[in-house]
Amino acid sequence: MALKERVQDLLAQVNDMKAANAEELEALRIKYLSKKGEITTLFTEFRTVPNEEKRELGQLLNQLRQQAEGRINEMREQIVNSQELLAKSQLDLTRTPDPIDLGTRHPLSLVREEIVDIFSRIGFTVAEGPEVEDDKHVYGMLNFAPEHPARDMQDTFFIEKEIGIQKPTDVLLRSHTSSVQTRVMTSQKPPIRVLCPGRVYRNEAISARAHCFFHQVEGLYIDKNVSFADLKEALLYFAKEMFGPETQIRLRPSYFPFTEPSAEMDISCNICGGKGCAFCKGTGWVEILGCGMVDPNVLEACGIDSKVYSGYAFGMGVERIANLKYRVKDLRLFSENDVRFLRQFESC
Ligand code: PHE
Repeated sequence: MALKERVQDLLAQVNDMKAANAEELEALRIKYLSKKGEITTLFTEFRTVPNEEKRELGQLLNQLRQQAEGRINEMREQIVNSQELLAKSQLDLTRTPDPIDLGTRHPLSLVREEIVDIFSRIGFTVAEGPEVEDDKHVYGMLNFAPEHPARDMQDTFFIEKEIGIQKPTDVLLRSHTSSVQTRVMTSQKPPIRVLCPGRVYRNEAISARAHCFFHQVEGLYIDKNVSFADLKEALLYFAKEMFGPETQIRLRPSYFPFTEPSAEMDISCNICGGKGCAFCKGTGWVEILGCGMVDPNVLEACGIDSKVYSGYAFGMGVERIANLKYRVKDLRLFSENDVRFLRQFESC
């Protein structure tokens, strides 16, 4: 390329120069104007140009150098100005942003989800039902005799249909989530394998150890040939998953109207490992749930043939499990929403 064309080409490049910061600007200066820069090189070559061309080319070359220097100075000023502006505004773009204040999950939600997760691994799905229920689903279909004390006003919150009615009505707040089991049994055909988590209500004075509402997770499995051994195996699996592989279980005979036989399950105390401590009152065992084989009367009341099908059921208090896991001494903490308490579960 002739010298003149190269000068014109560089002129176009110089007009187009852009630099975002001081480093880029310095790179441009070196490229064009340093000792070995492209423009400086042209000046060296200029010496060999025939005299008659020197005048015109010389002017062009000078123009190119001025333009390059002018453009670089202009950009330098812009960069310095923007830096000053930034310094003046005291904006620190290198500072890490304030952390976003995240909420924490409630300990009862954590425990309920863990229980659901453990049972979902052996095929249980979740079923839900209403908290305001009728007598039939909470007691009647579950083989409670009409005069059973659980129906008593002391335990159950009855809902008065009209203000002024003194007599208990059959609308009530469910006192256990077994009511969801009756709903599932009447609406689904076996095999049934459900977990029923939810809030339940009992007419109790509020103290560190009792509350008028708490939470349960109940389970129900109905199929052909379900035996007590199946129940025991499922509960042993649950206890080990929830409290650690060294956990042992113990079943004690008990009574529930809706199961026969019935049992209460203890686990080896997870605080002293079964040696005996203040928490387990020196026994080495702590009670965690009630269970049993579904009473044939219940199956029949829900339209399931008790000669073909059998099943097991179990029910546990979420607060109880949470106490064992997190050692919460006062039950009221679970419903007071004190952030100093809730924040302690941040990393769970
Ligand atoms: N419904 C019982 C309760 O609330 C618990 C339970 C459920 C017991 C299923 C046995 C079988 O105490």
